[in-house]
Amino acid sequence: MNTLLLKNNDEDVLKAGKILADGGLVAIPTETVYGLAANALDGNAVKRIFEAKGRPADNPLIVHIADFKDIERFELVSEIPEKAKLLARKFWSGPLTIIMPKGRGVPDEVSAGLSTVAVRFPSHKTAQAVIKAAGVPLAAPSANISGSPSPTKAEHVTADLSGRIDAIIDGGECKVGLESTVLTLAEEKPRLLRPGGITAEEIESVIGEIEIDDAVLYQLKSGEKAASPGMKYKHYSPKAEVILVVGTDREYIDFVNSNSDITVAALCYDGDEKELKVKCLTLGAKDDFKKQAHELFDKLREIDRLPEIKKVYARCPKPDGVGMAVYNRLIRAAGFEVIELEKL
Ligand code: TXA
Ligand code: MG
Repeated sequence: MNTLLLKNNDEDVLKAGKILADGGLVAIPTETVYGLAANALDGNAVKRIFEAKGRPADNPLIVHIADFKDIERFELVSEIPEKAKLLARKFWSGPLTIIMPKGRGVPDEVSAGLSTVAVRFPSHKTAQAVIKAAGVPLAAPSANISGSPSPTKAEHVTADLSGRIDAIIDGGECKVGLESTVLTLAEEKPRLLRPGGITAEEIESVIGEIEIDDAVLYQLKSGEKAASPGMKYKHYSPKAEVILVVGTDREYIDFVNSNSDITVAALCYDGDEKELKVKCLTLGAKDDFKKQAHELFDKLREIDRLPEIKKVYARCPKPDGVGMAVYNRLIRAAGFEVIELEKL
């Protein structure tokens, strides 16, 4: 299949809308990462997303809307919880996904057979325009081959999916760089399933205390069921082995330097490169979690372009605020492999 490269202009957005309305697949920019979109109301179109990405069939998709009223108009949920209305007022449009009881309008292919559905209203103007042009809500996972880091630039999408999807809209770099925060309101207590740019603390300031799902920070034990199926899969990993190293600045630098050779790289903070003897990929300043979130996936992909690198020692932020989202992705990229020089 020839994949069309579309521009971020009115004419091409209309083209994308038409492809989607006809059951096709288009990768679109959002403020978090690029999404691989299909008509969320069309089970057959949605199936093609799973094929193109090589995504396990039991991993449900997020439905993207461009107007709060779309939820009722397309019968996406059976009931809108009060807390969802409060959160929508504060954080939509924006990088927060809310899981609610599924409505009649959503085919089983989207929810992977679950009785719930994830809904998100992206703030990216192009994403909104494409949803409007398609005239339907769009199911969209991140536009990467399953298992690889989510794409934050159009060229990441091209590298993974060119020839497998109908079109890609190039909207430049994604602002946040990590996927949306996922919160479930479909159970008794609100629970964070995936941390992102909107932090647990910000959510709590609107709806009170929330729970943090164990899978956010810890590895599921074998046989344990994932509340968010995506959390159980190996994710975000480059081909080289990534290992998190927890320690002070000095401990980290001494550790890497005493384990250095040409096959080793460091995923580190700005300034570390002055003292490290290995190839360095920097994520931003130590306390700048937003910048680290923005850089992480791009740097993980860069590691794959360095064939000599077999092992990456990564610095590890404290799991607070946006740091929790960076930690959550990094620990998965590392397959939960951590060297503790100091207690977190
Ligand atoms: O920022 C984002 O959320 C991006 C952009 C494209 O919007 N999308 C994204 O989709 O990251 P995806 O499919 O890569 O991640 C969605 C996550 C998965 O971990 C999935 O298991 C979970 O949300 N999820 C979706 N529907 C769910 C449901 N009904 N119950 C529990 N988890 C759900
Ligand atoms: Mg994904």
